[in-house]
Amino acid sequence: MTRISAVNTARSLPIREAVAVLKRGGLVAFPTETVYGLGADASNPAAVARIYKVKGRPANHPVIVHIGEAGHLARWAREIPEHARKLAARFWPGPLTLVLRRAPGVGDYLTGGEDTIGLRMPNHPVALELLRQFGGGIAAPSANKFGRISPTTAEHVSDDLGSEVDLILDGGPCEIGIESTIIDLSRDRPVLLRPGRIGTGDITATLGTAPEPRDRGAPRAPGTLESHYAPRKPLRLVAGDHWDERVRGTNCAVLCFRARPVGEKCAMWIRASTDPRRYARDLYSNLRALDASGCDEILVEEPPASAEWAAIRDRLLRARSA
Ligand code: TXA
Ligand code: MG
Repeated sequence: MTRISAVNTARSLPIREAVAVLKRGGLVAFPTETVYGLGADASNPAAVARIYKVKGRPANHPVIVHIGEAGHLARWAREIPEHARKLAARFWPGPLTLVLRRAPGVGDYLTGGEDTIGLRMPNHPVALELLRQFGGGIAAPSANKFGRISPTTAEHVSDDLGSEVDLILDGGPCEIGIESTIIDLSRDRPVLLRPGRIGTGDITATLGTAPEPRDRGAPRAPGTLESHYAPRKPLRLVAGDHWDERVRGTNCAVLCFRARPVGEKCAMWIRASTDPRRYARDLYSNLRALDASGCDEILVEEPPASAEWAAIRDRLLRARSA
């Protein structure tokens, strides 16, 4: 299948072409408010199988099905608990994925054999228009090779997956920059499977009960593997008070909250925002730039331990080398 690249054509987004690609079983990378997704028709097992092949992802890891309306939940989930209705009403479209018991007919090829399905209505005009015109669900993991850094621009997608994708819709850089919060509502109590922009506090305020942290009974989720979102170069987290001695004299690339000292010779120095939203928005672009800088290692200053930095800390802990 030929690749119809839509990179740099943000003004004339070829959504109709994208719908045609999806309908014939092809792969379309598309922007969401979190990261770019690698989409396929969720009702087509062969198309979804291609996602796994292109990503190099093990087949037992479930994918998120993106839907264009909360009303479509019932097509995919056999039970829509009150908690799910409340969260969808409050946060959709938005950076929240709900894990629910799957409806009869929802295949193992989407769920990795689990009895649950992950569902999200993204908040991005291109994604919503694509979903509206397509009409069905779009299965989409992040549009990167398995275990690597998620893409937040169309260029990242073409760097990672190139001609293996049939079409890339360019919607500019993603505004949130890290993946959605995932809540499992398939069991007795809500469980937080992956932290994101929507924090535990937001969820507690909506449900009147706090989600529990993930435990061993929780379903599989590659985003929750110990090592994920990783650059190629070794990445280490450094506490602020050990910073100077750790950086000095090494061929490192740096993401930290301070200015580059005069004469510091490291391969690259990025001064990060102290605003967690901006930090998250730029995080994956920054990690990609540091990774490509010719350094021997990437040093990241540990962000604060407060709740608003929780999702960022989670990603950095997984991106770091053992
Ligand atoms: O922000 C996002 O969620 C992005 C955009 C494209 O929507 N998608 C994304 O997909 O991050 P992916 O596949 O890279 O990560 C989805 C996570 C995985 O950790 C997967 O295991 C988990 O969601 N997941 C999906 N369905 C699940 C299920 N039924 N049970 C448990 N975890 C599930
Ligand atoms: Mg991913």
